Amino acid sequence: MNDNIPQTIAIIMDGNGRWAKQRGLPRTAGHKLGADTIRTVALAANELGVKKLILYAFSTENWKRPEDEVGYLCKLPGLFFNKYIRELMEKNIRVTFAGELERFPSDTQKVINRAVNDTSHNTGLELCLAINYGSRREILLGIQKYADEVKNGRKNDLTEEDFSQYLFVPEDIDLMIRTSGEVRISNFLLWQLAYSELIFTPVAWPDFNKEELVKCIEEFKHRDRRFGGLTK
Ligand code: IPE
Ligand code: IPE
Ligand code: MG
Repeated sequence: MNDNIPQTIAIIMDGNGRWAKQRGLPRTAGHKLGADTIRTVALAANELGVKKLILYAFSTENWKRPEDEVGYLCKLPGLFFNKYIRELMEKNIRVTFAGELERFPSDTQKVINRAVNDTSHNTGLELCLAINYGSRREILLGIQKYADEVKNGRKNDLTEEDFSQYLFVPEDIDLMIRTSGEVRISNFLLWQLAYSELIFTPVAWPDFNKEELVKCIEEFKHRDRRFGGLTK
């Protein structure tokens, strides 16, 4: 089953709002269901032997949305972990996050930090939530940190591998999936997606599930990853 499984999968979980609107529901109803999909997909990725699953939950641009929607999205990680942390723990899943938590309500920050700490010794899937995450910001912060080190005497000898370590997400991504039909990256993992296989599925995030994930992985297995070289 683990044969040729992508080690790192990143997902732009898109389409919650449209999913709800199509059903005459408020956008927040789509986000609520979307949080349950996170559980489903994390458990599936863990079973399939994926090493790291990075889920784009809130972008640095999402602050532009109406206040009530932003308020709900800020509370959602707290609601999610209160509901599912026990199960994630039982399944040996390790929770991490990428982004800057400071702008979130302090109780949400607490719940997230607790989830990260409580699961830090787990050895199964790493479930990384990208929260208040923007890739340009991530790269800028990395450059600033490096520049400070050089100012303080570090040799200016940065390699691509070194630079990855300055980012929230140091790994290259094998497979990137975006749900709900939009065909763009929206400031997600710009550095890490350099040689990823990309899949854009029309399925809205609340309808995404294990079967859809397996379909994406099957498609990934048939891709010819050349990395600039020639087919073996
Ligand atoms: C994704 O769904 C969730 C977030 C961006 C937080 P959207 O809320 O973007 O849903 P659509 O794209 O408007 O349908
Ligand atoms: C990207 O979705 C961000 C997340 C999924 C968290 P958006 O819905 O915000 O992206 P755009 O605005 O359609 O590019
Ligand atoms: Mg969207």
